Amino acid sequence: MIKLENLTKVFYPGTVNEKIAINGVSLHIEEGEIVCVIGSNGSGKSTLFNLISGTYPLTNGTIAFNDIDITKTPEYKRAKYIGRIFQDPTMGTAANMSIEDNMITASTKGMKSLKISLNNEKRKQFKELLIPIGMENRLKDNVGLLSGGQRQALTLLMTVMSNPKLILLDEHTAALDPRNADIVMDLTQKYIVEKKLTALMITHNMKFAIEFGTRLIMMDEGKIILDVKGEEKKKLTVDKLVEIFRNIKNEEFSADEELLNV
Ligand SMILES: Nc1ncnc2c1ncn2[C@@H]1O[C@H](COP(=O)(O)OP(=O)(O)OP(=O)(O)O)[C@@H](O)[C@H]1O
Ligand SMILES: [Mg+2]
Repeated sequence: MIKLENLTKVFYPGTVNEKIAINGVSLHIEEGEIVCVIGSNGSGKSTLFNLISGTYPLTNGTIAFNDIDITKTPEYKRAKYIGRIFQDPTMGTAANMSIEDNMITASTKGMKSLKISLNNEKRKQFKELLIPIGMENRLKDNVGLLSGGQRQALTLLMTVMSNPKLILLDEHTAALDPRNADIVMDLTQKYIVEKKLTALMITHNMKFAIEFGTRLIMMDEGKIILDVKGEEKKKLTVDKLVEIFRNIKNEEFSADEELLNV
C-alpha cells in the first residue's frame, strides 16, 4: 500500500534553528493494516503525517503508494486517496455552511469536472449516512452549531465519503471529552472495517494504542524505535510498553510517562 523509504525531514537546514524532525524513517504498510503511532511530544509523529500527505516536501527519501512513486506528487492530488483528520474539530468542516452542503462537497471531492447537485435523492442518501452519528434531521443546520464531538464525527463521515484508501488520524479524539472520544473511536473502527481502509492513527493514549489496530509503532527523536504487530502486539500491556521505552531510552522518563498518558 504505502512504502516510505529512508525519509528525512530537516527544518531550517544549515541555520542555528536546524531541526531534524524525521531521521531516516523506512516503513512499509500493507493494505488493511491499522497502525497506531505513539511517541512523546516533538518525536516527529505529525511531521511524518505531513510527509505522507505531501504537506511538506521531503529533505530525503521516497514515498510510493501502491508501487507508484508519489514523492513529488502535490498534496491536493494525494488527497484523493489519502484522507486526514486533525485534533481540532473545526478543521475538517466549513462552519458557515449547512451539513448537506458540507457533505456534497465531500462527496464530489476528486471529481473535478463532474458536478453533482443536491437533489432529494442525495438528501435521502445523506440522511441515511447521518443516522449512525445521530444527525439525520439536521441536514440544513449550519455546521457551526454542532458540538466538538458531533463536528468530529461529521468530519470522519465526510472523510470516508470521499473514498480514501488510507486515512491519517492525528490525535483526532484528543480534544473531545471521554464520552465523545469513545463515540468517535467507535465510529472510526466502524468506518475502517466497512470501507476496508488502511489507517495510521497518532494517539497519546497507550491503552488505545494497545487495544486498537493491528500494528503499533513508537517514535522517538524522528526515528521509529519500536514496531510490533500480530501476536506480539496482542501481548502488549501498558507496563510492558513503558518498560520497552525505558530500556530503549535507557533513562528515567517520568515527564514522558505523563505525556504518554500512562
Ligand atoms: N513547520 C515546522 N517548522 C519548524 N519545525 C517544525 C515544524 N513542524 C514540526 N517542527 C519540529 O519538528 C519536531 C517534530 O514535531 P512534530 O510536530 O512532528 O511532533 P509530534 O510527535 O507530532 O509532537 P506532538 O505529540 O506534540 O504533536 C519538533 O521539534 C517540532 O518543533
Ligand atoms: Mg503532533
